Amino acid sequence: MRIGVLGTGPVGRMLGGGFISRGDEVMIGSREPDSDKLKEWKAANGPRASTGSFADAAKFGEIVVLATLWSGTESALKLAGPGNFKGKTVIDATNPLLFHDDAPPSLALGWDDSGGEQIQRWLPGAHVVKAFNIVGNAHFIKPDFPGGPPTMFIAGNDARAKETVTKILHDFGWSDVIDAGGIEGARLLEPMCILWVVYAMDGGSRDHAFKLLRK
Ligand SMILES: NC(=O)c1ccc[n+]([C@@H]2O[C@H](COP(=O)([O-])OP(=O)(O)OC[C@H]3O[C@@H](n4cnc5c(N)ncnc54)[C@H](OP(=O)(O)O)[C@@H]3O)[C@@H](O)[C@H]2O)c1
Repeated sequence: MRIGVLGTGPVGRMLGGGFISRGDEVMIGSREPDSDKLKEWKAANGPRASTGSFADAAKFGEIVVLATLWSGTESALKLAGPGNFKGKTVIDATNPLLFHDDAPPSLALGWDDSGGEQIQRWLPGAHVVKAFNIVGNAHFIKPDFPGGPPTMFIAGNDARAKETVTKILHDFGWSDVIDAGGIEGARLLEPMCILWVVYAMDGGSRDHAFKLLRK
């Protein structure tokens, strides 16, 4: 498939590489498509990797991944052109965080809204699915933990888009995917990022992930 990725940070580049390993073609979009980090990413990922503007990547993708800094997300989507997302599955990996000097981040939109819902409002024609936001990017692809595969929670309004994202997650090694309901489920998933960060700050490591146990 053709995948457009909006975002050149570790999340965008890691997911971009994951899709290329899966056999997809990936275009990463940026305000600076010829930056050194993107040249390096293209060189490492071969002929199925390309870069362009945010609009180029949004047009290119049959599926589009959002991996932008929260405070830049609205601007990135405006640059990408909301019409370029119409009818597409949009994987929202963002977290709406406010950063503080001496404390963990907090939720930029509070507890009765979420980034996932805001993105769905900005892209009314798209099928937004929140995913990948609850774990560090180093574990996005083939997560390998002694306790077995962690759990990925997803949320979104469109059942077919969630099926598509679940298949991608399975291909990436996330065999346990839990559907947390409509996109308002992002209100539950985004605070999990803060919990993940607090544990990382306290423990000095980023090698952890959530797992739901059942019997
Ligand atoms: N880091 C992780 O392990 C992790 C894990 C899960 C979820 N997340 C979430 O995933 C998202 C991406 O995180 P990241 O650490 O990879 O990168 P990041 O530094 O949070 O975001 C980088 C991207 O944001 C874009 N951006 C920043 N300001 C912008 C603006 N004013 N207008 C347009 N675009 C702007 C940049 O565009 P240019 O390329 O044009 O500079 C770049 O592509 C964040 O929302 C983060 O909370 C992070």
